Amino acid sequence: MKRVGLIFGGKSSEHEVSIVSATSVFKNFPEEYEPVPIFITKEGRWKFVKSPWELENGKEFSFLPWQGENLSVEIDIYFPLLHGPYGEDGTIQGLLELAGVPYVGSGVVGSALGMDKAFMKMAFEKEGLPVVKYRVLRKWERINMEDIKREFNLPLFVKPANLGSSVGISKVKDWNQLGDALKRAFSHDYKILVEQGIKAREIECSVLGNEDPQASLPGEVIPYREFYDYEDKYIKGKTRFKIPVKLSKEVEEKIKNFAIRAFKAVEAWGFARVDFFLQENSIFVNEINTIPGFTEISMFPKLWEASGVPFKELIRRLIKLGFERWEKWKKAG
Ligand SMILES: Nc1ncnc2c1ncn2[C@@H]1O[C@H](COP(=O)(O)OP(=O)(O)O)[C@@H](O)[C@H]1O
Ligand SMILES: [Mg+2]
Repeated sequence: MKRVGLIFGGKSSEHEVSIVSATSVFKNFPEEYEPVPIFITKEGRWKFVKSPWELENGKEFSFLPWQGENLSVEIDIYFPLLHGPYGEDGTIQGLLELAGVPYVGSGVVGSALGMDKAFMKMAFEKEGLPVVKYRVLRKWERINMEDIKREFNLPLFVKPANLGSSVGISKVKDWNQLGDALKRAFSHDYKILVEQGIKAREIECSVLGNEDPQASLPGEVIPYREFYDYEDKYIKGKTRFKIPVKLSKEVEEKIKNFAIRAFKAVEAWGFARVDFFLQENSIFVNEINTIPGFTEISMFPKLWEASGVPFKELIRRLIKLGFERWEKWKKAG
């Protein structure tokens, strides 16, 4: 039986979400594979654990490929179920590449582009996908507030380039909040984005596949708070979801088409969730998540379920896609 190393936890602020994702995946694992849970602590230590809900004990090990003898367990493919930095951003994928082992999902480039909101938008624009007006700022640049005021209308959003879960994001509704919003975003990253705030519905679409990816039916997120922030996502939990959401045929087809193009634009592999803003009939691509939330109630699996792919089958397909990509990618040398 093939063994699948389920890597979860991790150093990002989405540590807990990752544990919930891994728990759902572990409990619904396809019978023909054996899951091997690998937990990364908040400090970044790796250990084999019994299950994603028994994290106390477990043998610690090193995964660094240059440290000689390290892995005592044979694993056929790895499945990183980590969200945010040090997991969804290409770093783990790079480590797995160095180690020369197959893994599920996007490679280094797709993961990195999918995490960096500045480069992600460039990739989308190059593909001709509509994105809201934005500007990238770096910590060491001299920032002229007057330029920002001239370029954008209120409200606007200020976000760190490389985080997820709405961490460090502010909605600026009054110009005198701009300074604090910039400071807050810069406390998380050297690179940030200023974005035109728009009043729009939030539509999401799941994508599955390698070189010929398919899109699911779209779903809608209806945030409870001012915007879909960290608290709304994980603490208050009052956000409502429409899975799937009924849209006009034309808009639905466009969303699906944009989702696939966004997936290809960043060179994602295996799976992703693409998030949109829908303003009457205008569609903007907001972002792509290359390791989307994967709990039983998460948008990514729920949309596939609504599109005819049940949870367990989804995991099965992802593992298969991981092996297939590995075969295709086998490089010289
Ligand atoms: N330009 C924008 N206009 C309106 N709302 C926005 C805009 N950018 C972000 N938001 C709100 O903030 C939330 C989080 O922003 P997002 O860019 O998706 O970051 P994250 O990667 O942390 O999810 C969105 O789901 C949406 O509710
Ligand atoms: Mg988002």
